[in-house]
Amino acid sequence: MTTLDPVTTTTLVHRASDSSDWWRHAVIYQVYPRSFADASGDGIGDLPGVTSKLDHLARLGVDAVWLSPFYRSPQADAGYDVADYRDIDPLFGTLEDFDEMIAKAHRLGLRVIVDLVPNHTSDEHVWFQAALAAGPGSPERARYIFREGKGPDGSEPPNNWQSIFGGPAWTRVEDGEWYLHLFDSKQPDLNWEHPEVHEEFRSVLRFWLDRGVDGFRVDVAHGMVKAEGLPDWDGHVAMVEGADDGSTGAGNQGPMFDQDGVHEIYREWRKVLDEYDDRILVAEAWVEPLSRLARYVRPDEMHQAFNFSYLTTLWDATALRTVVTASLEANDAVGAPSTWVLSNHDVVRHPSRLGLSVPGSKPQGIGVGDEQPDEELGLRRARAATLLTLGLPGSAYLYQGEELGLPEHTTLDDSLRQDPAWWRTGHTERGRDGCRVPLPWEAKSPGFGFSPTGKTWLPQPETWDRYALDAQVGVEGSTYEMYREALRARRDHRLGSGSLGWVDGLPGCPDANVVAFVNREVLVVANLGTDPIGVPAGAELIMSSAPLTEDGAIPSDTTAWFTLSS
Ligand code: NOJ
Repeated sequence: MTTLDPVTTTTLVHRASDSSDWWRHAVIYQVYPRSFADASGDGIGDLPGVTSKLDHLARLGVDAVWLSPFYRSPQADAGYDVADYRDIDPLFGTLEDFDEMIAKAHRLGLRVIVDLVPNHTSDEHVWFQAALAAGPGSPERARYIFREGKGPDGSEPPNNWQSIFGGPAWTRVEDGEWYLHLFDSKQPDLNWEHPEVHEEFRSVLRFWLDRGVDGFRVDVAHGMVKAEGLPDWDGHVAMVEGADDGSTGAGNQGPMFDQDGVHEIYREWRKVLDEYDDRILVAEAWVEPLSRLARYVRPDEMHQAFNFSYLTTLWDATALRTVVTASLEANDAVGAPSTWVLSNHDVVRHPSRLGLSVPGSKPQGIGVGDEQPDEELGLRRARAATLLTLGLPGSAYLYQGEELGLPEHTTLDDSLRQDPAWWRTGHTERGRDGCRVPLPWEAKSPGFGFSPTGKTWLPQPETWDRYALDAQVGVEGSTYEMYREALRARRDHRLGSGSLGWVDGLPGCPDANVVAFVNREVLVVANLGTDPIGVPAGAELIMSSAPLTEDGAIPSDTTAWFTLSS
């Protein structure tokens, strides 16, 4: 047994809290409805499918569920193009199905957060249809961002902005005007200078709050207000390499993002939410540095903001320590929790990112011909990354399938891709389909039990039988059982509301590639180096992401939790 000196001192960067706010320490599970579970048999997941699997989530031990959009939509961006904010798309079910889903979730003690997409509507929304019909200069057009084009005949776009999905951010309509869309041309941006837009979204918030939702994940929360005059942008991206504030380059930049005016909107919404008990707003804001992101979670704005700097940090101990410290300090300064996340429906799944030659790097999708991740190593590191994440104080988001250790589908046939980013970038970005493949529930059923007919809207790799839920339940050492155990231990030791004190170099351990901290009475050690490291005296193992070595050391790419005897 390799025993190190006991941990006697730590550098405290975050104190434990005894707040009763559920969201400050909640573990929230993202359901991507079209790929979670299909009850109707058409190969696309739906709300009754979600309801049928809520027991799984309760058993897993999460506190809440966040559902990606299920609203009426032509599905040009998988539902992030909303045509009716107050109705369910027939693909996913009905409002009654929604009511049943939320009632069951609440019975099981799970809270439910829904997605809100306020930056843009679908081009099939009645407002946009009316804007097209009413013509230039009309009040209907004023709800969107229509402009005349440049050049003698107005045939050039009003400015040089590019869509996030590639190509120009402007599309010209028949009468010659152009409209802005930061995403697909089927997602026209709303004009948040317009009072009716404010009024409409306050009403949409109330509609879902009255139906019992526990909160909203706010899409593109940093994009709704654009700089005055819509100035051209030279696309210059400020350098962040080696940043000591946790920045990784994940923040969107330019006159279309992170304008001061967005905060007015959240103050307005916070007042609406405060009329109800315990409801929350979480920002999807790709904003850096973390001190700037923290402005979204000031006491009178949102409750949480996803930490994308953390998600995009490489598998490197120094970088991880830096981003964790910067996150806790920035959020503590405004009294908000840090909100940790490793995967979602927009990024390559973390087991695959961590299996790349630059572990933790973030490609825009992976396909045949691209570097293929090392699946085994990636999973090993992903489990270690998850245990590190769940050991941190604050709230954490899990993306469906990560509890199974699911990798990205990295060999999906290009002809099947549905993400608009794939064709809008002229087939240079594979896009996000690889992280959206339907979940495997049963190893031996057609479609791995995703749907009663075996249909799946995207094909699943044949090897996914090994990741199926029923192949992992009750199996010692499976990823599913690791998540379950970690969520239980996290609750038992109150790590979510806990503290963080860095162990400044494990005493007697020469390896620098180690992240070690104490949260309340729990010591968390992640070994990112190549050699096993010893365990401090007096530390008693709670669990680890991979078995310790025979002589009790923490092997490479492994995180372990210990209790420290006081
Ligand atoms: C962020 C969402 O997560 C993503 O899936 C979507 O494509 C864009 N916002 C546009 O709504």
